[in-house]
Amino acid sequence: MSGAAVGQRAEQPSCDPARFREVMGSFATGVAIVTTTAGDGPHGMTVNSLTSVSLRPPLLLVCLTRGSRTAAAVMERGEFVVNILGTHQEPLSDAFARRQEDHFEDLEVQTTREGLPVLHAAVGHLVCRVSESHDGGDHHIVVGEVARVASVEGTPLIFHRGKYDSLTGRGRDAAFDWYW
Ligand SMILES: Cc1cc2nc3c(=O)[nH]c(=O)nc-3n(C[C@H](O)[C@H](O)[C@H](O)COP(=O)(O)O)c2cc1C
Repeated sequence: MSGAAVGQRAEQPSCDPARFREVMGSFATGVAIVTTTAGDGPHGMTVNSLTSVSLRPPLLLVCLTRGSRTAAAVMERGEFVVNILGTHQEPLSDAFARRQEDHFEDLEVQTTREGLPVLHAAVGHLVCRVSESHDGGDHHIVVGEVARVASVEGTPLIFHRGKYDSLTGRGRDAAFDWYW
């Protein structure tokens, strides 16, 4: 692309946020809850901005909204757990998306050897150390180095066009060796 074309693009107004959100909604994702513990106790929030970044070293990222209690706690603690949700955990996803509530009351929680909360019955767990955080507009882009993982059999919860969904097929093997 030429320099002029790039310059022309830069002058265009930004896309409408609501339309951006709507179109991004067609990019189906899984759903996870980021948990951590800071000085004032356990915190957690529902996310679908989870992305794997690197295999060596194993890195992932999550985008945490500025001003959220969990984002502050993750930054303070420097460690967090990603709990990947199964289809049966839709109510948990809703609960951890509600602000200003004690999400951990009456909840079955285990703790890692670091003392981080782990949500029972999730289909996958990744214990992470914050390796970097970046400015991402109204979100913090938090890069975590993955220390340990665990997974159990189960169907993942899907989020698509603002609604929960589930996989209808049984899936098929990729036609290439990914992460070669
Ligand atoms: C399916 C789903 C996905 C979400 N993904 C994100 C996300 O990736 N990043 C984010 O900052 N908030 C996301 N949210 C909103 C947060 O879960 C919500 O604002 C949360 O209550 C903020 O955490 P706090 O209670 O610690 O302040 C999502 C909500 C839902 C229902």
